Amino acid sequence: MKHDDKSGGILILDFGSQYTQLIARRVREFEVYSEILPCNASVGKIEALRPKGIILSGGPRSTVGPDAPDIDPAIIKGGIPVLGICYGMQLIAKTLGGSVEKGRLGEYGRTRVKFDASRGAKIMNGVPGAIDVWMSHWDEVRELPVGALRLAESESGACAAFSMEGDRITALQFHPEVETTQYGREMLSSFVFDICGCSANWKLGDWVERTLADIKEQIGEADRVVCGLSGGVDSTVAAVLVSKVAGDRLDCIFVDHGFLRKDEAERVLEMYEALNLRVRHVRAEDRFMDALAGETSPERKRKIIGALFVRIFEESARASGDAKWLLQGTIYPDVIESGFVGGDVIKSHHNVGGLPSDMKMSLLEPLRELFKDEVRKIGPLLDIPSHFLKRHPFPGPGLAVRCLGSLTKERLDTLREADAIFVSEIKSAGLYDSIWQAFCVLLPVRSVGVAGDARTYGETVALRAVKSLDAMTAESVRLPWDLVDRAAKRICGEVPHVGRVVMDVTGKPPATIEWE
Ligand code: XMP
Repeated sequence: MKHDDKSGGILILDFGSQYTQLIARRVREFEVYSEILPCNASVGKIEALRPKGIILSGGPRSTVGPDAPDIDPAIIKGGIPVLGICYGMQLIAKTLGGSVEKGRLGEYGRTRVKFDASRGAKIMNGVPGAIDVWMSHWDEVRELPVGALRLAESESGACAAFSMEGDRITALQFHPEVETTQYGREMLSSFVFDICGCSANWKLGDWVERTLADIKEQIGEADRVVCGLSGGVDSTVAAVLVSKVAGDRLDCIFVDHGFLRKDEAERVLEMYEALNLRVRHVRAEDRFMDALAGETSPERKRKIIGALFVRIFEESARASGDAKWLLQGTIYPDVIESGFVGGDVIKSHHNVGGLPSDMKMSLLEPLRELFKDEVRKIGPLLDIPSHFLKRHPFPGPGLAVRCLGSLTKERLDTLREADAIFVSEIKSAGLYDSIWQAFCVLLPVRSVGVAGDARTYGETVALRAVKSLDAMTAESVRLPWDLVDRAAKRICGEVPHVGRVVMDVTGKPPATIEWE
């Protein structure tokens, strides 16, 4: 993207914390641009972004252990305001001459800390003398660098915050970005506005205008664009955005693998039509079923589906003629997760890593700097219906990874019907929007039952409903028992072949959200 309004934002250097993305999202909630770079980014690269403040994230390593990620001390010693969080705090202490040692016990989870109001540090603006915060550390700062002021300590007596050079350097042992930390938003806001002097100028309406201008410049007057629509939010928003510039130079391809939810393909296609997208519906159910015949291994299923999907998409894209651009709904977390340093590479994302190496088209990825919640907020600006934007996330391989054991048309239909009943009960109870994901899984287990006077030997459906912020961790939702009971009775009564319904109450970790 060419626009330069990103200077004057907050740069986050990532040392591998699971919360790094959360810090960036919190800053963007203040309508201030934030960007994440790996902790080994060069001073030149950092200066080129002209940030008003730098946040050093937490991380899984120890600053006093081997292979501790480090940064150029000039980043901390230069004139830009710096906030260190957890590992970031310890790195500041170590770099500026303090000492870090292994604590006796470490501190994990909710912890009480006391602030020393007499210090008058800006980070404490509006924060009471004692609050609960989220801690997750083993090491602690023992000796502060010369000139540092101790701002807070935890019940164990460990230093919980310090500042230096007025408010230019602030260090917090706890995580202000985590919901559990009381006044966490206020502290981040004090850093962003009172200490760094940022302005709230990252507006999504402006982003749409600028991005349309950038797309116009990229694709010019004649280039053709091809796009794979999945029925999900990201690819839809990307396609509608580009269609505003490309008009009928945009060809959309909807590869239907046959693993969608009940009536989903029809509903999604109707909506695409209403949004004036030209979409080719490629029906490939039979090819996918043939390729998966007899396959029960979760990993192999995923690989077969992924490879066939790319092949069918390529065939269809070739039939669309000479497109110069391949449009993808890649969003910021995909970009970050696909190749970052700090901690470890988390996973190779399909959008970024799964493309054929001999691909001739250039990638067009207009959403690559946005978080999911920002993409959802852009939807209404493009007239995408809000019920569509609020739909629960759905995995690319669809019901194929929720139908455990052999994949047959009959078993997929069973799962589709059960899933539609469970979700409709959740919607009737007004709970849909407060749940991250609710769905059914068909288990590879049959069990004995009784219907009338006859013995049955039916399929088993598991109900799963989870709360989550970003799918990295999740908690099972405590659904009202009446709802669960009604859904179970309806599923056994209305869906042929089902003889038993069970409830999955496991969190993530140790389970994942999907079963395969
Ligand atoms: P897990 O099961 O790993 O899932 O806890 C985390 C989130 O990712 C979704 N998911 C996928 N999304 N392609 C996707 O686009 C996939 O292959 C895929 N697998 C899982 C899952 O639904 C949950 O929201």
